[in-house]
Amino acid sequence: MSRADRPIGVFDSGIGGLTVIHALRQLVPQEELIYLGDTARLPYGSKSHHTIERYTLQMGELLQRHDPKLIVIACNTASAHGLPALQAVSPCPVIGVIEPGAEAAAEAPGAVGVIGTLATVGSGAYEAAILRRDPSKVIHSVACPLLVPLAEEGWFDDPVTDSVCRRYLDLLPADVKTVVLGCTHYPTLLPSLERCRPGTHWIDSGRVTAKVVDRLLQGSLGYRTQSARGTLRVQLTDASSRLKEVGSRFLEEALGDVEVVDI
Ligand code: DGL
Repeated sequence: MSRADRPIGVFDSGIGGLTVIHALRQLVPQEELIYLGDTARLPYGSKSHHTIERYTLQMGELLQRHDPKLIVIACNTASAHGLPALQAVSPCPVIGVIEPGAEAAAEAPGAVGVIGTLATVGSGAYEAAILRRDPSKVIHSVACPLLVPLAEEGWFDDPVTDSVCRRYLDLLPADVKTVVLGCTHYPTLLPSLERCRPGTHWIDSGRVTAKVVDRLLQGSLGYRTQSARGTLRVQLTDASSRLKEVGSRFLEEALGDVEVVDI
């Protein structure tokens, strides 16, 4: 099979990365996609650098079985801690979600906020990537450890989620008008986030990453040669019916069959 016709491998710690799959299915619908969610070990966001890096390498290895032309780490936490390690060993190119999100943040006017998991915010990866592009940028980061469980639970539009979002977003100064959703679970919480901070420009790191994928395909990687819609294969390291139900909300289409793979 030619390189252009090989699939794109996408992984996340859980089902949050399905928001990135949704963006890819809209932008490059003809591509074959393999999604791998490490639901058995979620969350990554409360774990140490060493553990997240090790998990990232294992997820990359599992995806290699499908001989992908590109791997997308659709998890900010794994991108912050495991991207260089996976890039060093992977036979195919690997991209994460932080650089694309940082690029969009650096281009936005004024101070920016970054919300993410404890491990993402603790890594300082967004600050470093934004300041590399604009050293004068003022950045305020807030770790929001309770948001991933709320999203995985499917409480997308709920008073409890509203009050948790408000508590975190109130930590950002009033002059912050742009906020990076530095976790691929957060786009599903947008109704609550928007209610708490109306009129904010939210940067969806997954959506901007899909644009980077499109650019790479336009270049040396090449688009799949068939124009029919590509298939989506979903693999999880642990599955429950609840995940299937909530996963469809992340994907914004029926999730279909889910395969369970051993790590
Ligand atoms: N979806 C992951 C991210 O983007 C976070 C979930 C987790 O804590 O595992 O950071």
